Amino acid sequence: VDPRIERLYRLAAGRAGAAVLLGGGLPSAALFPRARLQAAFLRALAQPAGALQYGWPEGHERLRAWIAARVAARGARVTADDVIVTNGAQQAIDLAVSTLGAAGALGDGGWRIGVDAETYPAALDLFRTRGALPVVGAAVRCRYVMPHVSNPRGLALDDAARAQLLASGAALIEDDAYAELNFSGPPGRPLAADAPDRVFHVGTFSKVLCPGLRVGWLIAPRDAREEALRRKRDLDLQASSLAQSILVEFLDADDFDARLARARAYYRRRAVRLARALRRRLPAWRFRMPDGGFSIWCETGEPGDDIALLEAAVAEGVTADPGRLFRADDASAPVALRLCFSSAPVAALDDGVARVARAWDTWRRARDRERVVERSML
Ligand SMILES: Cc1ncc(COP(=O)(O)O)c(C=O)c1O
Repeated sequence: VDPRIERLYRLAAGRAGAAVLLGGGLPSAALFPRARLQAAFLRALAQPAGALQYGWPEGHERLRAWIAARVAARGARVTADDVIVTNGAQQAIDLAVSTLGAAGALGDGGWRIGVDAETYPAALDLFRTRGALPVVGAAVRCRYVMPHVSNPRGLALDDAARAQLLASGAALIEDDAYAELNFSGPPGRPLAADAPDRVFHVGTFSKVLCPGLRVGWLIAPRDAREEALRRKRDLDLQASSLAQSILVEFLDADDFDARLARARAYYRRRAVRLARALRRRLPAWRFRMPDGGFSIWCETGEPGDDIALLEAAVAEGVTADPGRLFRADDASAPVALRLCFSSAPVAALDDGVARVARAWDTWRRARDRERVVERSML
């Protein structure tokens, strides 16, 4: 992350309470089941050893069985033996990309990985760190995709795009982090159901339960599993036994489908409120109503510096995510912002957008002044 952006995020976080947080993509803390997690924690500790002891690198067997059953119910041929429990989806993406790289699946010379025009920033950073160049629209041997709910746009692939993706023959990293939060209901077939020999399927509890546990998973193609598991062991031996045991206890006692249904309704209501505020206060901005997830991707259509816009926003007491973070080439223009409806109180969304609109006016006036100065110097 550009240090200027990081500084502005931290500045705004320090003022939490006074600022409306429309950036960051955090789940709503109001949905964290604190009491149930607390009870699950106590039950996990009461188990003879599991929660406090080392475990196997692939993860807790009952948790793997739970994950496998959910993915299998969507049409994939998956058993508990296929699942590797990871430290969040982030580590699962890392294991997938490094396993693909080691297998020569990212190209012979420089590694390349195909991504959407806007995509999850920490995956872009991760690919670069691992030596893989994220590219848009080029012929590649591997693609990173979010077919059920994308970040930042919150959109699902339509049938034609999905068929085209599968027909490309490329290896696919399928990031299903937000898939369960499609507002229309449970997600359909994962890509892993249709191309199990070349799809690395990634999931997480971060968006649907809480990110603090840091539990996600990777389902690798069968012939890549050993290598992915070896890499997992090299990195950190295993995901936290304690976090996994808490989850097992929690899931045993929870109606998770009912929880997901509530979360979908909760986030959908917020999405509608944010969209309404945007239409009213920033009618020139373009956006598509998301199918799910946490955010709306807003396009201003204007050139300029999106970090300066974030600066103006933070000065107004609101945060947003500058568009460059989501682009493989880091481009600021045309200026876009990701606005999240997920974590701010619903009543604050309208005020948050009013602040963004004021920041937009300030930023445009400053930009236009700069243009006049530039022209007068010519
Ligand atoms: C699309 C996407 N994938 C993966 C992650 C990482 O999730 P986790 O907390 O499970 O590492 C995020 C987090 O923001 C995300 O937005």
